[in-house]
Amino acid sequence: MTAHDRLVGVVGTGTMGQGIAQVALAAGHPVRLYDAVPGRAREAADAIAARLGRLVEKGRMSAEERAVAVARLDPAQTLHELAPAVLVVEAVLEQLDVKQELLRDLEDIVTDDCLLATNTSSLSVTAIGGALRLPGRFVGLHFFNPAPLMPLVEVVSGYATDVTAATRAYETARAWGKTPVACADTPGFLVNRIARPFYAEAFAVHEEQGADPATIDAVLRESGGFKMGAFELTDLIGQDVNEAVTRSVWEGFFQDAKFRPSLAQRRLVEAGRLGRKSGQGWYAYEEGEERPEPHTAAPAEPPARVTVEGDLENAAELVAMMREAGIEVVQEDEDKGTRIVLPSGGQLVQADGQTSIEFRDVVYFDLAHDYRAATRIALATGQDGNPRTLKESVGLFQALGKKVSVIGDVPGMIVARTVARIIDLAHDALVRGVATEEDIDTAMRLGVNYPLGPFEWHRRLGRNWACGLLEELHDRDRSGRCAPSLALLRHSYDPKKWEGSA
Ligand SMILES: NC(=O)c1ccc[n+]([C@@H]2O[C@H](COP(=O)([O-])OP(=O)(O)OC[C@H]3O[C@@H](n4cnc5c(N)ncnc54)[C@H](O)[C@@H]3O)[C@@H](O)[C@H]2O)c1
Repeated sequence: MTAHDRLVGVVGTGTMGQGIAQVALAAGHPVRLYDAVPGRAREAADAIAARLGRLVEKGRMSAEERAVAVARLDPAQTLHELAPAVLVVEAVLEQLDVKQELLRDLEDIVTDDCLLATNTSSLSVTAIGGALRLPGRFVGLHFFNPAPLMPLVEVVSGYATDVTAATRAYETARAWGKTPVACADTPGFLVNRIARPFYAEAFAVHEEQGADPATIDAVLRESGGFKMGAFELTDLIGQDVNEAVTRSVWEGFFQDAKFRPSLAQRRLVEAGRLGRKSGQGWYAYEEGEERPEPHTAAPAEPPARVTVEGDLENAAELVAMMREAGIEVVQEDEDKGTRIVLPSGGQLVQADGQTSIEFRDVVYFDLAHDYRAATRIALATGQDGNPRTLKESVGLFQALGKKVSVIGDVPGMIVARTVARIIDLAHDALVRGVATEEDIDTAMRLGVNYPLGPFEWHRRLGRNWACGLLEELHDRDRSGRCAPSLALLRHSYDPKKWEGSA
């Protein structure tokens, strides 16, 4: 085999092109770079060589390995120099006509069995491939930024993509040390589609005056088990970049309410408050600015004794935790639902999509990824709620070692509605053939760092949990934004699916 048998071409040598080239190099391929701007491929090669140098300094690569890799890296002056490539990945401007023109030109240069791939994150692979003479060998290879560090690659098949081409792309990603997932060509592919509610629900709670960004972020992190909250994460990504993805998925689904963008985020983008890069987004990043503190309730007395009605379902661990904290728990197993009755006569109920306005003396507590590990819990109460019930609820969770954030009376609270909607979109994607259950779980864990995949969450939370919560939310907002999909309904109520599961 000659070196050319394995030559990988990378076109467009910006952020992603450089990252992808580095990954291919590290996997032992000779890599040839091309960029439309003269000199940029050479600059990219230098930047990659410098980055590999830093890996040597950190002891993650030997100086010899770096020298060999750099010798295999080769900036091209013209697109024609990519003729011997067995694979070309394009990472040029995210514009349909630009990508189509480039790929048409490439097709005249490379051999007919060269695999052509696009790193597009929001355009349709089918649409780009429509310009090709042989669209069967064209596939989406969607790397995440930064490509050398992010393990996930979405392998996207357009309508015309051959199975052999998709398999070759999948195997290549695997040989490059990545975790590939196979997915169909729909707006947002897999991760960007299913992750939308993570941002949308946080922004919606804020817009509904439920809580401020710092409190929502703290609850998502410390209770939801997410690495970062939606506000701090979008400030890092860039509000313009994150909103553009949301809008493109929303447009891609013909403005389906389930993907509706946020008005508050739109205002940030219009004002140029793009996040860290502009010095201000949801938060301010100028010198001396301090991040606002999340709402944290003052210490309160815990109740000495509570009555638990029902088994508390996915919050059952709270019973043992209350006993360990010295709270006397009287358990009533009659089929009265799942609630903690406090000495005030009021009740603590897990967020279920209803509100305290409807049930006066109820305080809702949010879903936690793990009630034992959570360091914070959100409580919601209506303005007419009994102050004694709220105090006892705060004291109870403080006695369990949690910080407590009291938020407004928003149905589904913060973590619960976010997780329920992610579970719903995952089911919808599954039945529409976008990807397998396993690949969806893998993609959400690796692509956006979720503590669990949506299907793992669904099984852990219980058969009707997400669907029941979304039905309640849908009852209170008929726009369709939170309507459970038919797929989730089927999956939640079909006993066969639940045989053998907890
Ligand atoms: N940045 C990300 O986080 C990210 C993540 C995943 C996918 N993507 C996708 O990767 C692609 C590239 O994004 P990026 O962030 O690296 O962009 P970038 O602006 O950093 O780089 C694009 C490069 O392409 C070059 N270019 C433009 N038109 C060209 C043409 N016709 N022929 C050759 N070179 C051309 C530009 O000169 C530039 O160097 C886009 O399709 C984008 O959607 C980006």
